[in-house]
Amino acid sequence: MNDRSGTTALTAPPGSETLRARAEIDLDAVRANVRALRARAPRAELMAVVKADGYGHGALPCARAAREAGASWLGTATPQEALALRAAGDTGRLMSWLWTPGGPWREAVEADIDVSASALWALEEAVEAARGSGRTARVQLKADTGLGRGGCQPADWPALVAAARAAEAEGAVKVTGVWSHFACADEPGHPANAAQLEAFREAVALAERAGLDPEVRHHANSPATLTLPESHFDLVRPGVSVYGLSPSPEVGVAAELGLRPAMTLSASLALVKQVPAGHGVSYGHTYRTPGATTLGLVPLGYADGVPRHASGTAPVLAAGKLRTVAGRIAMDQFVVDLGGDDASAGDEVVLFGPGDRGEPTAEDWARAAGTISYEIVTRIGARVPRVHVNEQAAVGG
Ligand SMILES: Cc1ncc(COP(=O)(O)O)c(C=O)c1O
Repeated sequence: MNDRSGTTALTAPPGSETLRARAEIDLDAVRANVRALRARAPRAELMAVVKADGYGHGALPCARAAREAGASWLGTATPQEALALRAAGDTGRLMSWLWTPGGPWREAVEADIDVSASALWALEEAVEAARGSGRTARVQLKADTGLGRGGCQPADWPALVAAARAAEAEGAVKVTGVWSHFACADEPGHPANAAQLEAFREAVALAERAGLDPEVRHHANSPATLTLPESHFDLVRPGVSVYGLSPSPEVGVAAELGLRPAMTLSASLALVKQVPAGHGVSYGHTYRTPGATTLGLVPLGYADGVPRHASGTAPVLAAGKLRTVAGRIAMDQFVVDLGGDDASAGDEVVLFGPGDRGEPTAEDWARAAGTISYEIVTRIGARVPRVHVNEQAAVGG
C-alpha cells in the first residue's frame, strides 16, 4: 500500500455491509421475553444468559435490554465474555462458569465477577486470586446433580464444601451460590429431572450444614423456567428463551410460551436469471429445474452459519412465497427456484424471523438441518452484521 492511496478508499462505505445480508435483532422482543420469563418465575431472580455473543444476537445490547426488563444477573460461559461486559460498563451481578487452570481469576475477582468452582483446583485458584488482589472472591460451587458434564460429583462434594468454608473463614472467598444444570429439562416429565432436583436439595443441605449461606441457589435453564416451578429456587438462568426461542418442541412453540423470536435473518438477492428446464443448480447438481424457471441467488452460505445440512430442504421467504433451498448451500451463497415469479436483484429474502410475514422460523431451519434452534442462531457468522432495533426501552417498558 502506498501512502497516496489513502485508507478511506480501501474501506467500504458505512452501512454498505448490510446491503448483502443482515441479522436484525429486536431488543423490545428481548425485553418482552425477559418480562414473560420473570412472570413464569415470580419468586426468583433472573439471570439472562448472554454467552456466545448472546446466542449470536449481540451480547452487549441484549444484556442491556435484559437488565432494563429486570434481569438482576447476567451469565456467561467464559470469563473473557464476562470481562467484556464489565469493560463495556455493566456493573450488576455477573457470573462466569467455564474456567480452566490459569484463567483470568484475578481479573474476574477484581471485576466483582462471580466465578464457579466444580473442583478443588478451581477453588484454590480463586483463593490465590483473592489473596493477590486483597479482595474477597465471589465463588459459586457447582454440583453435578446428574448432567455428567461440569460440576462436582456427590462423592467429592463434602471436600469441596469444607475447603470453601475454610477459605471463607480466612476471608478469601464468599460462597455466593450453589448451583447445577439440567440434562433433560427440555423433555418435561423425564425422570432425570426429579432425580436431579433431589440431588440438588441434598447438595444444598450439605453445604448449609457445613456453614455456607449462599445468596443464590439455582438450577433452572429455559425449559425448567418454563415448565418446572419447583426448580426455580432463588434464581432462574434462561438463555435461549431470552431470545424468544422455545427450547424444544416438547416444551411448546414460542408464541404459546409468550416468547417472541428476536432475530430476523435476511439478505438481498444478488442475481435473478432465467434458466431452461433441466438445468443443474449449485455444486453436485443435486437439484435440476423441473421446467424453464427463474433462479434467485441468495448471498449467504455456510461461512455465514447457514447450515449446509439444510441443502435442498430449508424454507426461505422469497418473492412473496415460501420456497425451498434449491440444491447445495455453498460457502457464500445458495439458490432458490422462484418458479417464474417476478423478482429483481436487490429484493429481500427472509431466511427466518418471528413468522409475522409468513417467513420461516429458526425452528423450521433447525428441523431442516437436523439440529436445534440454539445452533441456528448462535452460529450466524461474524460476516453478517447485527442490526439492533428498538435500542431505547419504551417509557415504562
Ligand atoms: C450453565 C448453563 N446455564 C444456563 C444455560 C441456558 O440454557 P437455555 O439456553 O436452555 O436456557 C446454559 C446454556 O446452555 C448453560 O450452559
